[in-house]
Amino acid sequence: LKVAFVASEVYPYAKTGGLADVSGSLPAELSSLGNEVKVFMPKYNTFGELEHGLKYRWDIGEIPVRVAGRVVPVHVHTAMLPNNNPGEESNVEVYFVDCPQYFHRFRLYTNDADEDERFILFMKGVIEILQRLQWAPDIIHCNDWQTALIPLLLKDNYGWDRLFHNTATVFTIHNIAYQGRFPKSSFAKAEIREEYYLHGGIGEYQGGVNFLKTAIYTANVINTVSENYARELLTQEYGEGMHEYLSHRINDFYGILNGVDYNVWNPETDKYIPYNYSIDSLDDKKKNKEYLLEHFNLPADDKPLIGMISRMVDQKGFDIMAYVINDLMNLDVRWIVLGSGEKKYEDMFYYLAGKYRDRIAVYIGYNNELAHLIEAGADIFLMPSKFEPCGLNQIYSMKYGTVPVVRKTGGLADTVLDWNEYLSQGKEIGTGYSFLDYNGHALLHSVQRAIHDYYLKDVWRKIQINGMSKDYSWRRSAEKYVDLYKKALVNNSNT
Ligand code: ADP
Ligand code: GLC
Repeated sequence: LKVAFVASEVYPYAKTGGLADVSGSLPAELSSLGNEVKVFMPKYNTFGELEHGLKYRWDIGEIPVRVAGRVVPVHVHTAMLPNNNPGEESNVEVYFVDCPQYFHRFRLYTNDADEDERFILFMKGVIEILQRLQWAPDIIHCNDWQTALIPLLLKDNYGWDRLFHNTATVFTIHNIAYQGRFPKSSFAKAEIREEYYLHGGIGEYQGGVNFLKTAIYTANVINTVSENYARELLTQEYGEGMHEYLSHRINDFYGILNGVDYNVWNPETDKYIPYNYSIDSLDDKKKNKEYLLEHFNLPADDKPLIGMISRMVDQKGFDIMAYVINDLMNLDVRWIVLGSGEKKYEDMFYYLAGKYRDRIAVYIGYNNELAHLIEAGADIFLMPSKFEPCGLNQIYSMKYGTVPVVRKTGGLADTVLDWNEYLSQGKEIGTGYSFLDYNGHALLHSVQRAIHDYYLKDVWRKIQINGMSKDYSWRRSAEKYVDLYKKALVNNSNT
């Protein structure tokens, strides 16, 4: 199949979270299954050093794109997506939609007044690049709200172009918390017909427009990134206002668990960690721990080291951590926390780092290398999310022998097996610890269970090895996406 994969962030070019990891690795796997895949993303000014390393292949020149009543020139560059094996390229071409006035900002996502315009330009730009290339994909695979108007634009605004008559659309929800809600004027900027944003229209929501809702109604199939989260999204508790719309599309709505890229996240080959290790050389994991403790000026003893790497937002469970923060800080363990986000949580960690100097080290910001180092050096990884569509860090943690403590929700529930729960059934198959109730005491209790077992060397080794033996590589999930694409094609030919 010919697949255009469209996303607002793609590793290694631009990343704020797991969407980039998925967009940087699923396309290569789809390609190795025999599909022809092209990736489309905005060209931000955050490429940094990558900019120099980019071997631009060709420039298809300037394309005028109309947005908000103006014509904006868009440049397009392409490069080959690295397949993350040193020195190798994948067969996947990345198309960078280059428009400095929209994409050269302080951050990837902003609260600026033209945030809607930025991504309307991106979406229309992608469609117009396809026209310029005269390349008709079988599938346009859209991801999250920044790409959510493509199915509607394709069928309506560009419906005249025969090029797309057999093109079907897939929309993947990575996170329902971000929906792209804007005033109605937003649809006018995209030249989307009024009926779609009048009251009761598919794009209308609470008096404004909602990009994500539009995709729920217009994509040929929809999915999210774990089976459990797909079920949760149909409930009021998790649906963020979208559950009824998703229920309308229940026959076209699926859950496919994300895979991970073990070329990037593998302790045996990880180029960011000082000591590579495997199941057979787990003692070398300890050396990474010593390195990490020293680096952060924490006492170099063998107390359990708990790591966290997270966007610091409500989704990730920092509010329940805050409830029991004194209890957590009084545990006889070390903490290393990496993340950035809402000020109240950043401030909490700054405060803790000042108060408990030999307990907790904190790095506020984004640091890819440190993320790898924490995965390698920590004993325990904490991820107490309120909701979690898939979650990648718990999967990386398992591969690194870093035992995850998670809330039993979304993809976390699909991937982490609670040690005690299975032990009570006589099975030693657990890979971590999980708790169901979203409150601080449940969290604290699970952390305490992990600390207890950490000192039972054989038990701990068993849990580490159980996790390290798991295989969450992309192959199986990529095959499910191909099935999903085929369903989208059938749906499209029926309309
Ligand atoms: P989400 O996409 O909701 O943030 P995931 O667990 O799916 O959660 O993916 C998060 C990804 O972002 C992981 O690859 C993680 O290592 C990375 N990450 C998150 N915060 C940081 C940070 N401050 N520095 C470096 N990497 C980070
Ligand atoms: C989102 C979700 C996360 C998921 C990632 C990649 O950011 O919060 O759970 O793993 O997308 O699909």
